[in-house]
Order: sequence, then C-alpha cells, then structure tokens
Amino acid sequence: MNILVTGATGFIGSHTCVSLLEEGHNVIAFDNFYNSKESVIDKIKLLSGKSFVFYNADMTDSEALEKIFSENDVDCVIHFAGYKAVGESVQIPLSYYENNIYGTLCLLNVMKAHNVKRIIFSSSATVYGNPASLPIKEDFPLTATNPYGRTKLMIEEILRDLWISDNEWSIILLRYFNPVGAHKSGLLCEDPKGIPNNLMPRLLDVAFGKMPHITVFGDDYNTKDGTGVRDYIHVVDLAYGHVKAVDFAMNNKCVEAINLGTGIGYSVFDLINTLNKVNNINVPYKICPRRPGDIDACYADPTKAKELLGWSAVLTLEDMCKDAYEASKKARNDF
Ligand code: WQD
Repeated sequence: MNILVTGATGFIGSHTCVSLLEEGHNVIAFDNFYNSKESVIDKIKLLSGKSFVFYNADMTDSEALEKIFSENDVDCVIHFAGYKAVGESVQIPLSYYENNIYGTLCLLNVMKAHNVKRIIFSSSATVYGNPASLPIKEDFPLTATNPYGRTKLMIEEILRDLWISDNEWSIILLRYFNPVGAHKSGLLCEDPKGIPNNLMPRLLDVAFGKMPHITVFGDDYNTKDGTGVRDYIHVVDLAYGHVKAVDFAMNNKCVEAINLGTGIGYSVFDLINTLNKVNNINVPYKICPRRPGDIDACYADPTKAKELLGWSAVLTLEDMCKDAYEASKKARNDF
C-alpha cells in the first residue's frame, strides 16, 4: 500500500518508515525538521534497503499538502507530525494549538478532498491523565493536564466527530505509553533538539558526560520504590504496531482507540539500574522534588492491541536500555 507518513524523520516516525518499507509498503514521507534532522532520510533508506518519496513540508501549509496528495496515490496516512514537549506546551500553548490542531485540520481537509479516508493518529497515554486504577484500558475516562495533552485529546475528539459524520473513514487512535530504545543498527535514535525532557535521553546525557547526574523527580510516590512508574515500550515494537494498525485500517471502517504499551510498569530506579547493568556503567543520580504534573504510575492493558491488531510488544527493558545506549554512543561519536 501507499502510506503517507507525516513527521517521518522524527523518533517514532523514522522507525515506523523502516518497518513499513521492510513490510513491502510504499512510503511517501514529509517533515519540516522542527525536531529532527535531514540526515535521517538516508538512514531510513540504508536500513530498509528501499527508496521512498520525501517532501520537506509543514502540515500547516495546505498548498504543500495539496501538492503531495496530487502527486501521490495515498491509501492511508500515519500522522506523527506535532509538537510533543509537555513543559514547552505550558510556556507556548498558542503555538501548540496552532501547529498540532490547525495542522491536523489542514491534513484532514486535504485527505477529504482527495477521498483518502484512512488515518492512524499518533495519540498518547497522556490523554488518560492520572488513572484511578491500573492497568489502563481504552475505555477509561479521558482528561488532559497540559496544553500538549489537550491537543492530543482534542484531535481524538475531532477524529471521532469526523467518523460520526462519515462512516466511510477508518480511524485508529494509537495511544503510546513511553517510547524508548533505538534501532539495533544504532543509526536511528531519540535525538531531540535542545535539552531533552524525557527520562531516557536525559539518562544518556548523564551517561555520556553531558550532565553531571540525573535528577530523580521524587521518591515519595505511591509505588514499589517511591519513584515514578511508567510503561516503557521499545520504539521498534511501537513501529511494528503501526504496520499492524495499517493492515487493520485497510480492512475496517471504524474509529478505534488502541493502547500501544507492554503492560509492564517500571520505576525510575528500574531504568537507572537496568541501564547501568546492561551497559556496565554507573549513572549518578540525586533525589529532587517531584516535577509538577507528574503522576505516580501509568501502564497499559495491552489486550485490545492483541485482539484487534494481533500485535504485542516483544522487546524487553534490557533491549531498550542496550539499544538506546549503543545508538546514543554512535550518534555522539558520529556528530
Ligand atoms: C518518566 C518518569 C518522571 C526525567 C511524557 C509525556 C507523554 C509522552 C512521554 C509524548 C517520570 C521521571 C523524568 C528526569 C525523572 N510523550 N523523570 N527525571 O512524563 O511519563 O511522559 O513523555 O507523547 O505524553 O507526558 O515521561 O520520560 O518525562 O518521565 O525522574 O530527568 O521519569 O518523573 O516518573 P512522562 P518522562
């Protein structure tokens, strides 16, 4: 099938492009390189052994989108493009709403104009807020505690309303938990511009001497060791989940929210200890006050993904920590 991938050179987008190409799909990709590098394009081609169509474009540019859809026969869209930093979204909410919401509306309008009615949307477990119980199922109450999370929730609602207006659409809302890890080749990795927000890239900055220690945001949570618990999922598993979601969308007209998580919760200390063990390093840390907005624990019930997509995560926390470290080492040496 011909799959349009928005935000294709980002962390999850690039891994998904490799997985799609490996499965024999044709990829049409675009990115504006806001949080990624142009060099990723050739790495995707090298890893997959395939070529693909790429446009340097912004999803808020309807003329650029019109050109892409006029020049390509798109069967399905996987929509990654969007700003994703929680803290930044609190500082510049209007930019987040304009880019994420308006950009998605531009995309959906061009899709509709070209009768392309299959979309896989990059949503997030952040739409569950602070869950009342665990593991989290897709029918749990939805809420958002920051502008970034609200853009994800609003786009989900927009897509649900779109389906109600026209049942010819196939809409899959993939709710990612905490993506970490990297392609085994080390050529693709989480390589955010500026200071990273998430735990794993910050741990790697400490491991490679860019930061003196990791700040553990609180050890007084209601968890096994007091530190925050999350459902970390290997980005390669996550990428393959999109391949299975495309298969499902090609055969079902629906709107379905699906968790992409392992169903296992790991604490901050679990990540630090595992990263140290598998890479034979010792990352120093300091216990600091909680980060505003953080929740105690969050992990998925992955049953629906197994039942609907025939997909479940297979890679372990050890794989995530080894692959992330090796890719980061390579990226820092190649810089
Ligand atoms: C994980 C745990 C922190 C940094 C966010 C977004 C979510 C999704 C994934 C996009 C928490 C602790 C972190 C540090 C720490 N992004 N931590 N020291 O907050 O679960 O989720 O990223 O979809 O939408 O909300 O991920 O990696 O920031 O934090 O102790 O320097 O690590 O308190 O318990 P989070 P995270």
